[in-house]
Amino acid sequence: MSFFESKVALVTGGARGIGLAIVEKLLENGIKGVAIVDISDESWNTIKQDFQSQYGNKVLFIKADITDKDEFEGAFEKTVHTFKNLDIVVNNAGISGQNWEKIIAVNLEAVIMGTFLAMDKYLPTYRSGKEGIIVNIASLAGLLGLADKPVYTATKHGVVGLGKSLGADKSKNHVRIITVCPGWIATSMTEDVTDDDLKSVDPSHKGKALYVLIVCLLDQGNKERMSNSLIWQT
Ligand SMILES: NC(=O)c1ccc[n+]([C@@H]2O[C@H](COP(=O)([O-])OP(=O)(O)OC[C@H]3O[C@@H](n4cnc5c(N)ncnc54)[C@H](O)[C@@H]3O)[C@@H](O)[C@H]2O)c1
Repeated sequence: MSFFESKVALVTGGARGIGLAIVEKLLENGIKGVAIVDISDESWNTIKQDFQSQYGNKVLFIKADITDKDEFEGAFEKTVHTFKNLDIVVNNAGISGQNWEKIIAVNLEAVIMGTFLAMDKYLPTYRSGKEGIIVNIASLAGLLGLADKPVYTATKHGVVGLGKSLGADKSKNHVRIITVCPGWIATSMTEDVTDDDLKSVDPSHKGKALYVLIVCLLDQGNKERMSNSLIWQT
């Protein structure tokens, strides 16, 4: 049996970009079920038919705002109600932009909320095996200072700190926390990234990596897209 066959995952922001790439990889690798939790169903509506014809009822789309505790917890509930298990929670949804309060709410507060819901309640109760996994998608901005994105940078440093702190107690509820720090990846979020922005990325941080641990559990993933990322594993 493959690692994923008995597993169920929940991926926030899974309707497009990196989150969607994670969802696709999980499905390609035979996961039992995956819940996409996203505030917008626009992207989902364009891929829904393909996904459903290819993967049937292995994919559940849940429209929810992860900054709203009831909606976020409701998404966990719907996932376990549908698939009966939950093994992997990927806190991926994130934003950049001008509204610093919103950036903190999505990139940090909701990641903390998703981590605690997973670690304290849903993974210990519903995992199918001995271990649950939380993957928090931070950024190279969690390790470096991006001159023009101070709040985004602060939130990603927060996500890295969260993983370091919680990962210090490896036995906690038999849940492993993995914080992933990707470099630039072409998605809707990075449409406005310029060559000058890219120069500010310290090449010494280009390293072994992956933007998805789950991908790396089984294969090397897409090396080009992963080539300037770091993995932080605790
Ligand atoms: N693209 C990059 O270069 C890059 C680099 C490093 C880290 N990251 C991080 O990777 C993650 C994904 O980024 P992306 O580039 O795929 O972005 P994206 O904008 O393409 O996708 C983000 C998804 O999150 C969803 N989302 C946003 N706010 C939400 C909310 N409140 N509730 C639920 N869903 C919400 C969006 O609808 C969207 O589907 C983010 O955390 C981002 O900070 C991206």
